[in-house]
Amino acid sequence: MLVFAVETSCDETSVCILNKDKKILSHITYSQEEHKKFGGVIPELASRAHLQILQKISRNALIEANIDINDIDIFCSTCGPGLIGGLLVGSTFTKSLAIGLNKPFVPINHLEGHLLSTTFNNKVKYPYIAFLLTGGHTQIYLIKSINNYILLGETLDDAVGEAFDKVAKLLKMPYPGGPEIENKAKSGNKSAFDLPHPLHKNKGLNFSFSGIKTAINLIISKNKNIDEKFISDVAASFQEIVIKIIESKILLTLEYLKKRKINISQISLVGGVAANQFIYEKIKKIAHDHTCSIIMPPKYMLSDNAAMIGWACIQKYLLNEFSDLYFKVNPRLTIKDSN
Ligand code: KG4
Ligand code: ZN
Repeated sequence: MLVFAVETSCDETSVCILNKDKKILSHITYSQEEHKKFGGVIPELASRAHLQILQKISRNALIEANIDINDIDIFCSTCGPGLIGGLLVGSTFTKSLAIGLNKPFVPINHLEGHLLSTTFNNKVKYPYIAFLLTGGHTQIYLIKSINNYILLGETLDDAVGEAFDKVAKLLKMPYPGGPEIENKAKSGNKSAFDLPHPLHKNKGLNFSFSGIKTAINLIISKNKNIDEKFISDVAASFQEIVIKIIESKILLTLEYLKKRKINISQISLVGGVAANQFIYEKIKKIAHDHTCSIIMPPKYMLSDNAAMIGWACIQKYLLNEFSDLYFKVNPRLTIKDSN
C-alpha cells in the first residue's frame, strides 16, 4: 500500500511517500523562509509559497522514491486545523491527483497526525497520555485507542509554541522563535527575572501563557541595556517558567488519572515544542518518578511534516475509519471530528 501524503496547514510545505510497512520512500519538507523577518507566519505569504513549491516537491518526491504516480494507492492531505489558504492549496492539489488517477483520498486531521506520530516507532500501551505542544495548540489527551481521544485540557489563550515565538519577536529574534530561545537560554540565568505563573492556583488541566509575554514586554520596555546577557537571561527565565507550567500540569494530570483509577505507563510528547531539550529532560524526570516512560516520534516527525500525515492515513485506512473526497477543509477542526 503506497501512500502519497501532503501537509500544508501552516508554514511547512511537505510531501511524503511511504508504505504501510513504515518504509519512507521519500520525504521532502520545505520550511518557508518568507516569515522569518516578520516574527510570525503571514497567512497570505504562506498560501502563495505552498502554491509555488508544492508541485515541484511532489515531482521530486516521486523521483526520489523512484516510483510512477500511477503506483500510488492512496492520496491524503491535512484538512484542518490550520490556515485556510494552505489547507485549500494542499487538499485541492491532492484531491485532484486522487480524482485524476481514480484513487481514494483520505482527509487527515493535523492534530491526529501529531498524536499518532508516536505510534510509528513505539509500541504504545493504551491508555496513555499525550502532550501536544505546538505553535497552534497546547493540549493534554488521554489516548484510549486510535480514534478514541479524550481532551483533558488545553490552552485558554496562546499556544506554548506561539508564546516562544512571541517572546522571541520581542527579543528581535527571527521566526520560529522556539529554537532561538532554547539556544540563548543555555547561557542565561533562569532566575534572573521573576515571571508570572498563570493559573498557578488553578487545579484544572488548562494552560495559559499570554500573561508571561505581557510581563516580558514590560521588562524589555523598562530595560535600557538590551545586550546579549539581558537577552539570554530573559530567554532562560521564560523557558524556565514554561517548564514549570508544563511540570505542574503533568503532575495534575497524573493526579487526575490516579483519582479515576486510570493506569498509564507512558507519556507521549508530540509537536514542535517537544524538540526542546530542556522541556524534554524535565518531563522525562517526572515520568521516571512516576514509573512511566516517555514516548516520542522520530525527530523528523516532531515539527510539521507529511510523514505523520501519511502514517495517520495508513492507520485510519486500515481501520476503514475515514471521511472521503467530499470532506471540506476546516481551519478550526478539532479532535472530536476524528473520534
Ligand atoms: O508542531 P509545529 O511544527 O507546528 C504546529 O503545528 O504549530 O510547531 C511549531 C512550533 C513553533 O512555535 C516553534 O517555535 C516551536 O514549535 N519550536 C520550539 C522548538 N522548536 C520548535 N519551541 C521551543 N523549543 C524548541 N526547540
Ligand atoms: Zn503541527
